[in-house]
Amino acid sequence: CPDSWSLEDGVISQEWFSKVMQPVISDLNKYGVCVVDNFLGLERAEQILKEVGTLHSRGVFRDGQVVSRHVQDQARGMIRGDKITWVTGSEPNCSNIGQLVTAVDSLVAKANKHQDAGKLAHYNITWRTRAMVACYPGQGAHYVKHIDNPNGDGRCITAIYYVNKHWTSQDGGVLRIYPEGCSDKVAEIEPLFDRMLFFWSDRRNPHEVLPAKITRYAITVWYLDQKEREEYLARVNNASANT
Ligand code: OGA
Ligand code: OGA
Ligand code: MN
Repeated sequence: CPDSWSLEDGVISQEWFSKVMQPVISDLNKYGVCVVDNFLGLERAEQILKEVGTLHSRGVFRDGQVVSRHVQDQARGMIRGDKITWVTGSEPNCSNIGQLVTAVDSLVAKANKHQDAGKLAHYNITWRTRAMVACYPGQGAHYVKHIDNPNGDGRCITAIYYVNKHWTSQDGGVLRIYPEGCSDKVAEIEPLFDRMLFFWSDRRNPHEVLPAKITRYAITVWYLDQKEREEYLARVNNASANT
């Protein structure tokens, strides 16, 4: 039972990094989006799914927030129908989620500093949000087209890990990305088991979650550029100091 993954156990190994690093760097540079299938392997994905299921059954999921607090509950459900909870990974029964985040942290840090990082080198990725565990409870739950970071809040990479077993195209819940500058092209990403996704969080990638017919789980972490985040926090603090 992989309660803690060691440096030698295959996920955080040198081999794992070198396998995953190249597609992440080159696809982000070419497309602004990168999908990595079989990210951790079935065994670890199972452990993560178990933890997400436990969180779900403990009832800790809350309605996802929309930017305007004035939106009524019913309208909110029309914008985003997911239920979410934020975890650090150090909570009870979250160690595998924590290990996932640690693995992605190392990957993103290495990619950021890689000699061929390309557009990734524009950022100095020093921090991230906690992990947002989201459940779309089926019944058409969706998230309308939006941009994660339209106004420079510091988030530069959105990293999403999907844990939905036996997902089929009948189940809906596809993530549709509309990459900027390709008005005729969309990327359709099914939320498949053990699939990892990275994309630029800014205006380059408007996206939506199409209605999900069955329960759909995703774990999302946003990576932050230090300078953009500091400038954002300074703006926010200024605004609140002036009211
Ligand atoms: C946050 C956050 C996610 C979102 O509150 O830190 O990243 O897209 N929110 O609203
Ligand atoms: C989000 C989001 C996409 C997904 O939470 O901001 O766009 O595939 N999620 O779950
Ligand atoms: Mn989003």
